[in-house]
Amino acid sequence: MKGSLFWILLVHIFLVAYQGEVGGSHEVQKNLHYNPKQPYRTAFHFQPAKNWMNGPMYYKGIYHLFYQYNPYAAVWGNITWGHSVSHNLVDWIDLEHAISPTEPYDINGCWSGSATILPGKDYPVILYTGADFNNRQVQNLAMPKNPYDPYLREWKKAKQNPLMTPVNDIDPQFFRDPTTAWRGPDKRWRVVVGSQINGHGTALLYHSKDFITWTKSQKPLHFSNKTIMWECPDFYPVSVIGRNGLDTSVHPKTARHVLKASFNDHDHYIIGSYEPQTDKFTPDTDFMDSNVKLRYDYGMFYASKSFYDSAKRRRILWGWITEADSKSDDVEKGWSGLQSIPRSILLDKTGKQLSQWPVKEIERLRRKEVNIQNKEIKGGTIFEITGITASQADVEVSFHLPNLHNAELVHPEKLVDPQILCSEKNSSTGGVIGPFGLMILASENLTEHTDVFFKVFKSQHDDKYAVLMCSDQSRSSLNKEVNKSSFGAFLDVDPTKSISVRSLIDHSIIESFGGRGKTCITSRVYPEFAVGDKSHLYVFNYGKKSVTISNLCAWSMGRAKNFPAQRK
Ligand SMILES: *[C@@H]1O[C@H](CO)[C@@H](O)[C@H](O)[C@H]1NC(C)=O
Ligand SMILES: *[C@@H]1O[C@H](CO)[C@@H](O)[C@H](O)[C@H]1NC(C)=O
Ligand SMILES: *[C@@H]1O[C@H](CO)[C@@H](O)[C@H](O)[C@H]1NC(C)=O
Ligand SMILES: *[C@@H]1O[C@H](CO)[C@@H](O)[C@H](O)[C@H]1NC(C)=O
Ligand SMILES: *[C@@H]1O[C@H](CO)[C@@H](O)[C@H](O)[C@H]1NC(C)=O
Repeated sequence: MKGSLFWILLVHIFLVAYQGEVGGSHEVQKNLHYNPKQPYRTAFHFQPAKNWMNGPMYYKGIYHLFYQYNPYAAVWGNITWGHSVSHNLVDWIDLEHAISPTEPYDINGCWSGSATILPGKDYPVILYTGADFNNRQVQNLAMPKNPYDPYLREWKKAKQNPLMTPVNDIDPQFFRDPTTAWRGPDKRWRVVVGSQINGHGTALLYHSKDFITWTKSQKPLHFSNKTIMWECPDFYPVSVIGRNGLDTSVHPKTARHVLKASFNDHDHYIIGSYEPQTDKFTPDTDFMDSNVKLRYDYGMFYASKSFYDSAKRRRILWGWITEADSKSDDVEKGWSGLQSIPRSILLDKTGKQLSQWPVKEIERLRRKEVNIQNKEIKGGTIFEITGITASQADVEVSFHLPNLHNAELVHPEKLVDPQILCSEKNSSTGGVIGPFGLMILASENLTEHTDVFFKVFKSQHDDKYAVLMCSDQSRSSLNKEVNKSSFGAFLDVDPTKSISVRSLIDHSIIESFGGRGKTCITSRVYPEFAVGDKSHLYVFNYGKKSVTISNLCAWSMGRAKNFPAQRK
């Protein structure tokens, strides 16, 4: 049975008051230099010290990350809730496990769930899926033993568990991952649980007055007959005005709603209108509609969760990033899986999609800066960015395309599947406008490199431009056991203005944000030679026509601090 995946996020209060507790430089993990025995361990992404992970987080002056964790091995199994806290979303303190399989209703695993902060109380409660003694999936409640402990170290399970069981048409194997709950105008709570009914991905809807007794609604919040089981659903409002995030239980007229579901290895979302009186959700387009297949990320990014950060009035999205190497490599490394950089998430100005951007806090790790402006990159050339640590960096570049009118004309039919376009036209296949972009984690002799690039086409039909964004892993590593398939998507920007990308590079992960976060692609790569200080970074242009770097800023990135467990 497939592992259930997820998270929860929480943010925080007592920020200032407790900052002191973390102090003590003796606790700080030594600022590890590059470790040749662990070339793929990251420096500024969240990873537990060892073993298998995936998972979420929550709130309170302090950010809590709860994550799915196997305490015993670097493979899925014995699923427990790991728990870490942070004051800044960058440096983390490891705590004891929050929830472990101990009761008949969760003895086969404490799977994903979400935290909800109850009004009038400053602390969260957690709804999570238990795999029970019969391996049925049921929903359980847990709450902090001591709500006054800002770290919420210890958790207790509700006497009434399980609160929701798979009755009637619910398949006990397809009933998991409760969302953060929200309250309607009738003061009743709503929560959604991921399911598959008659083969269709479904968001089951439950109501409750007291958070203990839950009643299943006749009508699900939504279902789609073009998809299978929905894991880790997420449902939240986004504002059509301003740059602030919205809390789950607010219902302003200016809100639209996002429904996300995880299936087919990706996090898909749709945008629509939600009426809290009737719980009617009407999406603008449905999952897998042929022309609009919206995804948080077109690379590796799954089972994400978002949460509302009330301190900074923003919605933050986190995803679980798996490995692309073999299971035996994971066992050898001793770990598997990490968290994406937390991303602020907003409704894009077009209203048709979301945009995502790494949280500001990550910029505190920026060190040495290199800046380049107005540099022409002729067709067929590459240009090295020197002076930073290329294997641990943050790079932002914007391009100006003076020769755009020469863009290749293509039949609109060809502009249907960007994934195929990116695999057919890898970064070494020259075009007219592009491929141009960043050549990342490149070895000295360029045997190994990962390319994040753009190509611009003009549709024969209407002369409109189409911007393709790709991440080509085909030459990322000489290791044959690694999955090197390419990723691609279209980017909805006007190339007559500019095209930009920001890539966060951290040894074995590259997170790229095209067009200020309209299209995101995350890839995992395992170079054998382009490791540590042997890694290089270039801007390349293999198109016929030159492109211009209007602005490039690149920074070496420092190492986040991981404070060791403060277990009792
Ligand atoms: C689960 O934990 C037990 C020890 O309690 C261990 O023997 C077993 O190998 C573990 N399974 C996995 C898949 O990690
Ligand atoms: C899927 O749902 C749509 C709309 O509800 C319906 O028109 C269509 O017939 C359904 N298809 C299948 C295969 O059930
Ligand atoms: C890149 O694409 C070209 C043309 O399709 C192909 O010949 C070449 O093998 C590809 N290179 C890689 C590394 O996939
Ligand atoms: C590139 O460098 C690597 C490591 O030094 C070496 O194994 C490989 O043969 C080189 N490839 C070429 C084409 O020079
Ligand atoms: C490699 O990754 C791609 C994209 O994630 C996936 O579709 C494909 O099934 C994977 N291949 C293997 C052999 O796992």
